[in-house]
Amino acid sequence: MIVDERYVSYMNSLNTGNTPLLTEIEREAKSTHVPIIRTEMQQFLKTMLCMSKPAAILEVGAAIGFSSILMAEYNPVPCKITTIENYEKRIPIAKANFKRAGKEEVITLLEGDATDILKKLTTPYDFIFMDAAKGQYIHFWEDIKRLLKPGGILVSDNVLQDGDLIQSRFAVTRRNRTIHKRMREYLYTITHDEELVTSILPLGDGITLSVRREKP
Ligand SMILES: C[S@@+](CC[C@H](N)C(=O)[O-])C[C@H]1O[C@@H](n2cnc3c(N)ncnc32)[C@H](O)[C@@H]1O
Repeated sequence: MIVDERYVSYMNSLNTGNTPLLTEIEREAKSTHVPIIRTEMQQFLKTMLCMSKPAAILEVGAAIGFSSILMAEYNPVPCKITTIENYEKRIPIAKANFKRAGKEEVITLLEGDATDILKKLTTPYDFIFMDAAKGQYIHFWEDIKRLLKPGGILVSDNVLQDGDLIQSRFAVTRRNRTIHKRMREYLYTITHDEELVTSILPLGDGITLSVRREKP
């Protein structure tokens, strides 16, 4: 937790909630230990969608489909969402949830490793949400950038690693050192890329918000 829990509780006490189905899927995710976006990220995404009204959305990391259904529900304009997931056990649950939500025509699930799938995508997106394995963001980067339209928005979740990122690499467990190094590289890359404007925000576990400049 990088923000005082009392602020988070207060902020989330003001949240007006989601559709009954999303509430149910969130409950199911929690009871089966499936990681999904936090309440404050849910609200942030809803706000960003209202601002940007994207027609084409790409998500990396579907899990059981909660955030893609949320985006489909709360984007104020009709859209198409492509989401990627490689964990076989979660794929059928995500598909079933898209059906429950009546979003099968809106959300397309691409099954497999995002590193391979992203390379094959060619149509650019207005809005990209990165929510997969943190140590892989830097490997996705070249394709993510290629797929982000000028004026498009990129949101990446969980970038501050529960506060580990500001520690020396020697202060983090050996297991987390590779992720630490790669996430620092990712944050350096996206904050220093002149084709983007990026802000790092202490929301949830840390997020980035980037906009691709209209003219580099
Ligand atoms: C935090 S969860 C996504 C949660 C989801 N966005 C939500 O809030 O409903 C991250 C997901 O990314 C998937 N994932 C991680 N690395 C991946 C990769 N390289 N390719 C495809 N999926 C990946 C994991 O299996 C996991 O289900």
